[in-house]
Amino acid sequence: MPRVIVVSNRVTDLSSARQAGGVAVAIADMIPDQQVVWFGWGGAISHTTDTGYGETSCGRSKTVKATLTQEEHDQFYLGYANSVVWPVFHNRLDLAQFEAGYFDTYKRVNRRFAEAIAALLRPDDVIWIHDYHFLTLAKDLRDLGVRNAIGFFLHIPVPPAQAFLAIPEHVELAHALACYDLIGLQTKLDVGNLIDFFLQSVFGHLMRDGSVRVGKQSVRIASFPVGIDLAAFSAVSSDLERSAIETRIVGVDRLDYTKGLPQKFRAYGKFLHDHPEFKGRVVLAQIAPPTRESLEAYCDIRVELENLAGSINGLHSDLSWTPVQYLHRTFDREHLFSIYRGSKVALVTPLRDGMNLVAKEYVASQNSDDPGVLVLSRFAGAAESLSDALIVNPYNIPETADAIKVALEMPLAERKQRHGKLLETITKENSAQWSANFLTHLTAAHRHRLDVNDKPLGQTVTSTDWFKQKSGIEKGA
Ligand code: G6P
Repeated sequence: MPRVIVVSNRVTDLSSARQAGGVAVAIADMIPDQQVVWFGWGGAISHTTDTGYGETSCGRSKTVKATLTQEEHDQFYLGYANSVVWPVFHNRLDLAQFEAGYFDTYKRVNRRFAEAIAALLRPDDVIWIHDYHFLTLAKDLRDLGVRNAIGFFLHIPVPPAQAFLAIPEHVELAHALACYDLIGLQTKLDVGNLIDFFLQSVFGHLMRDGSVRVGKQSVRIASFPVGIDLAAFSAVSSDLERSAIETRIVGVDRLDYTKGLPQKFRAYGKFLHDHPEFKGRVVLAQIAPPTRESLEAYCDIRVELENLAGSINGLHSDLSWTPVQYLHRTFDREHLFSIYRGSKVALVTPLRDGMNLVAKEYVASQNSDDPGVLVLSRFAGAAESLSDALIVNPYNIPETADAIKVALEMPLAERKQRHGKLLETITKENSAQWSANFLTHLTAAHRHRLDVNDKPLGQTVTSTDWFKQKSGIEKGA
């Protein structure tokens, strides 16, 4: 079996990767089945020019961790990745900082990583690159003569083409993205947005099979909704920290402006105002671990949220009850799962989110005989398949406030019915299926690319026709 060279910005220790969030957990879940070399930034900043690589083996897999210089950290990680790509891809053009120098450093780090990866490659290795820090990495690898299969999975959303086109370097990004064999995205909506972007930015051609031709490059684009490992939930029990308040609503979100936390707090405040009979009976426990704190937008959201928590508590608390528990720290995953199980409702209400695994983990943690209710934003990727949650528009505060009441009062039969359907979807779209499916498609996409290379274009289709044809295929027509 070929090795899989996994690249992601964050690399955690293989022995503890399941304690980390999102991308790291999804990658760690594939390690028992594959021989993996996991390459990326280990989180350290080098204060010299020495940016060597540290290797740690675990069974037949290993991690290779790079360090970043202070300049790379500021301009690649905080700069281009998190002050340009992150806000634009989450539809927050107003927060994007198009600073001179960011893109050059971004490309330099991608190039440096490409050189280190090329040096450790074997001919049949498959390369799987993750997330928005590495939009240009396949181009660097191809320029270095790498002919292996190279796939890319984007964990965050793709914005509508009009937002993507606002990035000054969008043409260069489009050409670099076309160097991948396969681009995996979280949802069908993301697939449509990326195809539109290719057509509008570099006049790419959409082919009948859904691949996009950009000059001589052929790239396949498809959705692979990231899932969770159900086995991790088999022994979850309710947390023992239940307070005198029986009914807990839980939220777990990195303290990021994309997560809709102020809107969530406002909706909860409105719910308490409209339904005072719930006072003293319900708490909102919001776990909001710190993230990217040296960026101004993240400081601003923290101040805003802390003010809101203070004002809701000031307005509604009494001496024996505090309505908002705001916990600005990290919890380990087992502890989180037991908190989920002990919570009647989860509020997962981001303004935009690639997938949101908290939604899936909350469902998986529930007791099927007495499950809690998931309130889910329509703008989380998870909403595309979890339609049996209570779906809300997080910008609509009264709608979310009403959903909190509906969730708290939902009869057992309806809770069980919704939970059963949600669990069925989550079981089907699990993490093992996700990685196996992506890797199978990557092999096929690589073969396809080699086949069509240098061949004449053939018959193209419009994106509207392609989507019509695709929905026909999916309906078995
Ligand atoms: C999101 C991104 C990941 C990232 C994580 C934590 O989930 O998709 O790539 O690792 O946030 O952010 P951080 O900046 O701390 O790595």
